[in-house]
Amino acid sequence: MEASITHKILICLGSSCHSRGNAENLKIIQDFVKERDIATAIDFRGHLCNELCKRGPVIEIDDHVFEEVTQSNLPSILRSHFDKATCI
Ligand code: FES
Repeated sequence: MEASITHKILICLGSSCHSRGNAENLKIIQDFVKERDIATAIDFRGHLCNELCKRGPVIEIDDHVFEEVTQSNLPSILRSHFDKATCI
């Protein structure tokens, strides 16, 4: 039986977030999803600016908004969130 989508990741691809780190963060998330083989459980989408530019780069995971997400802190954000998740 195929897993159904149980988690949502939204990455801001507005120009500010994209240029300040979300271009690289996008690849980190793609690699994380691939390594964990959880693509079928994740609804992963980009979205445009939601007016939080000054606190960007912004990434939303299951309705938690993470601000100032960098290549350094993103791996621990992902591990912390998905290690706690019980449904994947
Ligand atoms: S560009 Fe991401 S919040 Fe504005």
